[in-house]
Amino acid sequence: MVVNRLRRGYTWVWQTVGRHLKLSPPSSCDVGGYVGSTQGHEVRYWLQTGLRKGTYIYDNYLRLFGLDKDELTGLTICDFGCGPLGGIPSVLPDVKVAYPLDVLADEYNKWGACRFHIYPVRDYRTPLPDHICDVCFCTNALDHVPEPVRVATEIARLLKPGGSLYLHVHLRRSDQLNKAHRYVVSEDMVRDWLHEYFTFESVGVDWDWPNDEPDLTMLYAHLVRCPVAEPVAEEDAAGHESRLDVLGPTD
Ligand SMILES: C[S@@+](CC[C@H](N)C(=O)[O-])C[C@H]1O[C@@H](n2cnc3c(N)ncnc32)[C@H](O)[C@@H]1O
Repeated sequence: MVVNRLRRGYTWVWQTVGRHLKLSPPSSCDVGGYVGSTQGHEVRYWLQTGLRKGTYIYDNYLRLFGLDKDELTGLTICDFGCGPLGGIPSVLPDVKVAYPLDVLADEYNKWGACRFHIYPVRDYRTPLPDHICDVCFCTNALDHVPEPVRVATEIARLLKPGGSLYLHVHLRRSDQLNKAHRYVVSEDMVRDWLHEYFTFESVGVDWDWPNDEPDLTMLYAHLVRCPVAEPVAEEDAAGHESRLDVLGPTD
């Protein structure tokens, strides 16, 4: 019990000031209410390893997608499943508005490792209005969620028609699953999840060099949000004249 208290105390010190003083991260972390869950593994990973690695990975993703930081200047950008560092917006000097989005936003915001506020994703919904983003990134996150179609639907809601989604996802075989990565993913599945709202501009499959994770294959893609259909009056949709055309104002 005393050991647990000391461990929790050290975790707290490290989360608040220790990282900045370059203290070693705790070897075992207090993952609070997330213990035993997938989110507990996520929290532990970031506290023990991920935060220390820093943001270089996001520069790697930009190279993977063939993007210059300049071409993202002045855009509104979200990053779905961004992690505690805020994802790709964290390495963009001149982003107009950044919306890092994560299911663990409340926890991550407490750590203060991201220069932007991280917005919560609750049951696949974010508190943002429709069609506000020019670009969305989603890296190393879609294979972590049980219902990827709901992620695709929410990203489609956030993106402007013609907006870009840059996606990176691990294609995991059944022998590559573990407690934090529970789902097999294939290229066909990814296409199936996204085809309703997006056209695929380019797709690549390669070993995961941005992360340098051994023996993991990634799919990376640039997708474009399809035009949003304007709402159509029911009778128009059925090919009939609109009621307003038939009935005058006094009828
Ligand atoms: C492996 S991390 C990747 C973080 C970051 N995108 C990167 O590439 O470094 C996966 C992230 O997805 C988030 N995540 C998992 N399920 C989610 C969901 N249903 N909605 C939003 N984010 C989710 C996790 O909390 C975690 O921060």
